[in-house]
Amino acid sequence: MKNSGRTALISDIHSNYISLEVLYYELKTENIDNIIFLGDYLTDCPYPMKTVEIIKALKDEYNSVFIRGNREDYLLDYYYNKPDWSSPSGRGSLKYTYDNTDLEFVEFFIDMPLSIIDENHIYCHGSPEKNTELLHWNRENTDNWLLKTDLDIIGGHTHVQGIYTKHGRTIINPGSVGIALGKGKEGNYAIMENKNGEIRYELKSYPYDYMKLYKEFLKSNLFEIGGYFTRAIYRNIVTGKPITMFLLRDAFNAARAEGIEGDIIPESYWARAAEKYGLTGDLND
Ligand SMILES: [Fe+2]
Repeated sequence: MKNSGRTALISDIHSNYISLEVLYYELKTENIDNIIFLGDYLTDCPYPMKTVEIIKALKDEYNSVFIRGNREDYLLDYYYNKPDWSSPSGRGSLKYTYDNTDLEFVEFFIDMPLSIIDENHIYCHGSPEKNTELLHWNRENTDNWLLKTDLDIIGGHTHVQGIYTKHGRTIINPGSVGIALGKGKEGNYAIMENKNGEIRYELKSYPYDYMKLYKEFLKSNLFEIGGYFTRAIYRNIVTGKPITMFLLRDAFNAARAEGIEGDIIPESYWARAAEKYGLTGDLND
């Protein structure tokens, strides 16, 4: 891939079309030539086809490249294998997304690469080899990647926007459009500019109407379909705190402590963890 001009780096939309729509109009004022989409297009927020429509419009308007995130792999797993997705908090949100997305768009994920490279960078969702690997700053796995690569890494997946340099190499994470960690109630992305070989990065944020999103959650019935997991997603969006991760961790740990094996955790464990994080009452408090 050739890196020239101004490129928007867009990651982790997670079906938040309300945020993506604001970004769509913002990009028109940013004089963008290219977009690199870093994965996790769908799942977690309501009405996935509304996100698909905006992605298609962006694809028509800009020179675009698409990378496959872990969410795309989950949806493809359902496409091929139809695993048991009956648990509300465990898989309800994924099932909702699959059921409400045209198969044509799911099939678009099949040929998406896990990474691509240009002269200076490797672009990926998680790490260059795994779209589920989290490259958090100051962690051993992250620093090992920076030791062994001779390219700078551009990726998402952690939903934390930032630039990290170690061992003479840099990671650029544009953050998340749909479920940003940090301040909350905003979308994040980045612009990379190549001016005659000199590359600059700009981390960007913008607000969007999260109450409009809340109403869409209600209207779509996703809070029921996706259970406590979806309630945590919404709290994540408004607070910028990784509530979903806390909920998952606590529900899993409690189930394991009581000898429950396997990926699917009974709803009662989710309910107990949800209580602890204030997810059973008014989500806008
Ligand atoms: Fe991800």
